[in-house]
Amino acid sequence: MSEKIFVFDTTLRDGEQCPGASMNIREKLEVARQLQRLNVDIIEAGFPVISDGDFESVERIATEVRGPIIAGLARCTPDDIDAAGAAIKPAADRGRIHVFLATSKIHREHKLKKANEEIIRLASEGVRRAKSLVKNVEFSPEDASRTEPEFLAKVIQAAIEAGATTVNIPDTVGYAVPDQFGALIKYLKDNVKNIDEAVISVHCHDDLGLAVANSLAAIRAGARQVEGTINGIGERAGNVALEEVVMAMRTRKDFYSEFHTDLQYSEIVKTSRLVSRMSGLVVARSKAIVGENAFAHGAGIHQDGILKHRETYEIINPQEIGWGESELPLTKHSGRHAMIKRLEHLGYRLNDEEITHLFQRFKEVGDKKKFVYDEDLAALIDDSFGSSEENWQLEYLHVTSGTTTVPTATARLVRGEESQQDSAPGNGAVDATMKAIDRILHQSGHLVEYQVHSMSGGKDALGEVTVKCDFGQGRLVTGKGASTDVIEASARAYLNAVNRVRQQAKRAPTSEFKVQGSGPQGSNSEAPISNLELQTP
Ligand code: KIV
Ligand code: ZN
Repeated sequence: MSEKIFVFDTTLRDGEQCPGASMNIREKLEVARQLQRLNVDIIEAGFPVISDGDFESVERIATEVRGPIIAGLARCTPDDIDAAGAAIKPAADRGRIHVFLATSKIHREHKLKKANEEIIRLASEGVRRAKSLVKNVEFSPEDASRTEPEFLAKVIQAAIEAGATTVNIPDTVGYAVPDQFGALIKYLKDNVKNIDEAVISVHCHDDLGLAVANSLAAIRAGARQVEGTINGIGERAGNVALEEVVMAMRTRKDFYSEFHTDLQYSEIVKTSRLVSRMSGLVVARSKAIVGENAFAHGAGIHQDGILKHRETYEIINPQEIGWGESELPLTKHSGRHAMIKRLEHLGYRLNDEEITHLFQRFKEVGDKKKFVYDEDLAALIDDSFGSSEENWQLEYLHVTSGTTTVPTATARLVRGEESQQDSAPGNGAVDATMKAIDRILHQSGHLVEYQVHSMSGGKDALGEVTVKCDFGQGRLVTGKGASTDVIEASARAYLNAVNRVRQQAKRAPTSEFKVQGSGPQGSNSEAPISNLELQTP
């Protein structure tokens, strides 16, 4: 009989830790809903103690997303565990607390400065406290793959005795190699006497490009839960790409016949696209399973083979994972109802105010281009989020540039009843536009990354600009904007980043960020962005 491999998705926690990937609550909710459609077993929704925003998003996901188990991460400290317990409470018996503590020698000696016995005591106490709040508790010995196996076995045994129902073996720094990692899982199976009382999980990072191979080796050796992210996003080289692990098992059923997952495979491509859009992290064209080129056959000999018999050069049927779903595009004649239906099909749920705003933008774009494709609609949603009372919106933009003129931009921004206008010269049209926005808002942001992506074919294609900006907070903020005009899309993307950073600062005034100083022109309580100071917990 085939055994189930539980799929644990940490896109919204480990994936979101990746520089520039941070998503706002609404984006996290969209991703969580899509993960529900993908039918993952567990969604790790965040690290609740880290900030008010993280707490709120875990709580909202635990309230609104039905089906998967909702997990919140916690260090082995009472405050962390209690925050995780409170955030996942709305999920009731679908809630899981995931506690972690580093166990490797290098972490014990240099980071924690704790003796082995103390590590075991802290791990047990942490799991016990989590267990007093919820039945479903996962324990992770951080940097497990670099921990002495005998000591690792003792910690895991203690965690299970304290009530852990899942024990996760992280390859935190992506150091493991497949034979060794598989052997480690087997060693734990053979040497932890209560191991059968918990599910063994694995959590691989990709620093050596071995995360998929390590996860598969661990499954063969006895792991029954695999943790990873969509598109493999995550710190440094990322986490294991879940779509790659599950498709390796599915495609090589001959080799993995004893295992199955309950994933809805046809949702894979849609989930990948959504995560890419929401995180602002573009998927490499050549990426396995979900990259643009994953099923493109350039060589004539291959094309010929495919036409004669698909399996000659294709090991996966792309339609099975959701490639090639084409729908009739919307046009400027499509009504509000048609747009809502298409949004539902794409998995978006917007409130009335957002639909009204989006419909107006949809009509503007429909006037400029013949067809509005699904990708266009998704791009419009990205830069239409947020209430007009709280967020600055672009009302007017005029840019002059050329080979013999100094590029200059004039922008007018509105927020509720407020309207502000200013101009600035710049080093190019995009730079001038951003400087004009900076002048209006009395801030100085730096553009660290800039990407333009054409959303659909043709000269009238909607361009989506993704920017990563540094507002002096010690981390990058992503913004996205779309328009048939690339300079306008750039202004929208920059403003999107500005609005995000301001919302984040408002949501977490006591923990992650401290707001200092008075607002623009002293007219409101918001601080100029350059005065936001990062405070590490
Ligand atoms: O990589 C890691 O060790 C982690 C743990 C918190 C599971 O992300
Ligand atoms: Zn990790």
